[in-house]
Amino acid sequence: MEIVYHESTRIFHLYNEYISYIMMIMRNGHLGQLYYGKRILDKEDFSYLLETCERPMSSCIYENDRTFSLEHIRQEYPVFGTTDYREPAVEVLQDNGSRISDFQYRNHVIEEGKPKLPGLPATYTESEKEASTLRITLEDPVTKLEAQLLYTIFREGGILTRSVGFFNGGEQPVRLERAMSLCLDLPDSGYVWQQLSGCWARERQIYRRTLEPGIHSIGSMRGNSSHEHNPFLSLLRPGTDERQGEVIGLSLIYSGNFRIQAEVDAHDTLRILAGIDPLTFGWKLEPGESFQTPEAVLVYTDQGLNHMSQTFHRLFQRRLARGYWRDRVRPILNNNWEATYFDFTEDRIIEIASRAKECGVELFVLDDGWFGERSSDRAGLGDWKANLKRLPGGIAGLADRVEALGLKFGLWFEPEMVNKDSDLFRQHPDWILETPGRSRSHGRYQYVLDFSRKEVVDNIYGQMTEILSNAKVSYVKWDMNRSITECYSSSWPGDRQGEIYHRYILGVYDLYERLTSQFPQVLFESCASGGGRFDPGMLYYAPQGWVSDNSDAVERLKIQYGTSLCYPISSMGTHVSVTPNHQVFRNTPLHTRANVAYFGTFGYELDLNQLTQEESRQVVQQVAFMKKYREILQFGKFYRLLSPFEGNETAWMVVSPDQRTALVGWYRVLNVVNDRYRRLRLEGLNPSFCYREQRSGRSHFGDELMYAGLITSDETAGQAPAGAEPCTDFESRIYVLEAAGNQDSE
Ligand code: DGJ
Repeated sequence: MEIVYHESTRIFHLYNEYISYIMMIMRNGHLGQLYYGKRILDKEDFSYLLETCERPMSSCIYENDRTFSLEHIRQEYPVFGTTDYREPAVEVLQDNGSRISDFQYRNHVIEEGKPKLPGLPATYTESEKEASTLRITLEDPVTKLEAQLLYTIFREGGILTRSVGFFNGGEQPVRLERAMSLCLDLPDSGYVWQQLSGCWARERQIYRRTLEPGIHSIGSMRGNSSHEHNPFLSLLRPGTDERQGEVIGLSLIYSGNFRIQAEVDAHDTLRILAGIDPLTFGWKLEPGESFQTPEAVLVYTDQGLNHMSQTFHRLFQRRLARGYWRDRVRPILNNNWEATYFDFTEDRIIEIASRAKECGVELFVLDDGWFGERSSDRAGLGDWKANLKRLPGGIAGLADRVEALGLKFGLWFEPEMVNKDSDLFRQHPDWILETPGRSRSHGRYQYVLDFSRKEVVDNIYGQMTEILSNAKVSYVKWDMNRSITECYSSSWPGDRQGEIYHRYILGVYDLYERLTSQFPQVLFESCASGGGRFDPGMLYYAPQGWVSDNSDAVERLKIQYGTSLCYPISSMGTHVSVTPNHQVFRNTPLHTRANVAYFGTFGYELDLNQLTQEESRQVVQQVAFMKKYREILQFGKFYRLLSPFEGNETAWMVVSPDQRTALVGWYRVLNVVNDRYRRLRLEGLNPSFCYREQRSGRSHFGDELMYAGLITSDETAGQAPAGAEPCTDFESRIYVLEAAGNQDSE
């Protein structure tokens, strides 16, 4: 891994074993983008890649020269209005009303390791040898506004991170109207754009489109990264699939309003922009003030989508998530939400927890409804004190009782919200985000606390600290159940209102940072009405997140499959819930619900007392199975094999680091009578290891399983001959493969 600067050609080359990223300081002092892709050998001069040809009707920078038009040049951090007509990476409104700027190279520094981004989540290194960083400082000569472009290349994997820091070194204030984290100008648009989009209970579905001239974008203006679009994009060369082909993955480490867009111009070049959503953003920089953008992560591979995902998984698992739980298998939990909703007493909770303990569960989580006057969603948010009518012993008393059963205890909070019917709102009605003189919209009868104000964050921090210090709480589920509207903070002046969305998220990050450092052994799980804020920013604080409120096994196939494009299995909160399912009212077999949930953190969202004896027996087995294999399920190498978006069957698998154990999840939505023969080609095995497959007791070498395939055809051809278990809809199987010493294959 290296970062080289070639003085004679003014070219930067960042490379490791997998990728090269090349740019140059152009004659106008701006940075031109020359190449991004598979590693190429270093040399002094790549300037021919700049391509400044003379095009008719172009606006040009230099007199008597018709070749240098920014419109036709691929750039690193472009501006609008000085011959480039595409959307810019940065826009600066100045005191005189001008929006023209001109960021020219001043200097650069190459350093080992990776710097922290103040107040923001970001990937990190544990030793300086893991990555190198290039800081390039650009300056606008008129305003003296500096833009410091940060590029970090990791040693392992085709990973490059980028962000931008601004510093107003001038004497006048300026206003950043847009400050994207990344611009990536690519020489052609021959990619398939792949995004993760959806809505509540249907998050992160895979959508694809070919790129055409014009702009295509995804983003959020809701105050959270949203159910609707995830801050993640992949660009696939045509023909790329899970196993092979070129792909660029882009992930924005941010939990607020964002935009990721592609612009294809008339000459088929492609500009990718990613960062904070510009429409809901504006940041005033007084002289001497700075601003830092969130970080964007780029992953390049020529080995297909699975390899891209594995690169993200490893990075996010090991160098984005932090703390005590980062590398630890996650406790199997039982959450009471769907078991009781708001209707519970302390004894009822203990009844559920006791049964959970008998089944081998390790953590009981008390969800919404334990605090203030909360008996429905109309009251209580903001008052983080136990409702003693329901829980006479308070949270400390309940936690003690749960611990006495031999379980850890976890608790739900929704720290960013308040109901009008709460003591907090009665005392501080001005602590919510609302625009003076305008009506205030609610979501689920709740209002958004103004987390751009330190005193508000301090208050919630104080209340949560009180509970976490005085009760044995080992886990926190941090929920967020509405989007922001009428965004305005009465504590900031009018010319700073464009900052509020971002300041709000900085407040959320600040609270997370304070709580996770004060309670380092508490496991945090993020949540936002299911997966409304399932993003890499959250992973920095909470190593797992509730994937979706939809826990139907069939729906979860798509949700978890899509999520796995970018996010590791250890980050996905997955539970077995009752049937008929509470979201889609579907009946699926208990084993299928577990077979889907195994590929995640695993838990139960039901009252285990309600199960039949046979079901309870199955649950005990499921818990034991998860305990045995969770290290591999959560931290092994994950491969997608069959897509639920493409057919009736889904399959995925994980392989242990030593390749000796693999678990394959196979799922079929609808039964097919007299179905065709099926073989599932596995991945990631050692070709010469002999694996025993537990269900059939047969053994096969890794090469057979990968190239000939595992037989998944139904022996009963979809029927139910006497004595055999009938095939049903929503059928699934887990195939466990263990490599044996010197066993022969059959
Ligand atoms: C939304 C979450 O996604 C659910 O799991 C549950 O915690 C409810 N909120 C509680 O209000």
